[in-house]
Amino acid sequence: MQYAWNKFLEVSGSLVNLQDFQNSLKVNQEYSGKLDFSNLKNEINVKNVSFSYGENGILNNINLSIPKNKSVAFVGESGSGKTTLVNLLCGLIPPTSGQILIDDLNLNELNKLQFQQRIGYITQEPVIFNDTIFNNITFWAKRTPENEMRCIEALKKASVYEFVYAQAGKLDTVLGNNGINLSGGQRQRISIARELYKEIDILIMDEATSALDSETERAIQENIDALKGQYTLLTVAHRLSTIRNADTIVLLERGAIKEQGNFSELLERVPKFKKMVQLQEV
Ligand SMILES: Nc1ncnc2c1ncn2[C@@H]1O[C@H](COP(=O)(O)OP(=O)(O)O)[C@@H](O)[C@H]1O
Ligand SMILES: [Mg+2]
Repeated sequence: MQYAWNKFLEVSGSLVNLQDFQNSLKVNQEYSGKLDFSNLKNEINVKNVSFSYGENGILNNINLSIPKNKSVAFVGESGSGKTTLVNLLCGLIPPTSGQILIDDLNLNELNKLQFQQRIGYITQEPVIFNDTIFNNITFWAKRTPENEMRCIEALKKASVYEFVYAQAGKLDTVLGNNGINLSGGQRQRISIARELYKEIDILIMDEATSALDSETERAIQENIDALKGQYTLLTVAHRLSTIRNADTIVLLERGAIKEQGNFSELLERVPKFKKMVQLQEV
């Protein structure tokens, strides 16, 4: 008995540790609702949404409606809350107050994983693997005729099919480390094709900086225009030329929506927007 008791004491400490660890995982676990989500049908509705980090109010009473397959661009000074708003729309962070409705259902109550599977995210610096185009697009899917068709479909939608098929290796062309032999525009198109290969409803592009070369800038504008009407496009834009054709441009100022409208409306009505555009046309 003494022996068994000693053995028990040896492990009981780690038992307590493990329990503490499990509890802390539970406390910080991301909340996911129970409602099944298959796809976006009508619209996303942001209702009186505010968000703060602790005491700091970041977004203040945002109201916005985003119909399916429309393109919405967020503009505003750095720190005005564009990325935070997009993160809320993706369900990455919950609103402090107010609601985000997806087809009239509260985003908080949806199965978050299923919802997020319908979202594609494009960054300015996509990772390109030192592997074939097929693997870069499909993330090493099985090489079946169906998957190949889907890959080709995605390449076409992302306007990079011609480029790929001009290469000797076609889908088997190996892209160098981090796409060393691709231009900025091609790299972005490859990463768009990668997102479109998954079946998604919402495509998000967050331009991290305004430091774009003109080729990439043009490519981004062409991509946005080509995808218009097929996906719900949410763009955080720094270069205003890329969002000339967006259905709605939302101008954020210190966490609130200052104005919204299309490019020419804002140009006419909002002196601040006009100034932003003029400053970039130098
Ligand atoms: N994790 C965080 N914790 C605290 N404050 C943050 C955090 N992330 C962003 N902020 C603050 O929220 C505000 C809005 O940031 P952000 O949404 O990134 O603006 P934008 O994308 O328009 O530049 C900024 O004042 C920023 O400092
Ligand atoms: Mg940002």
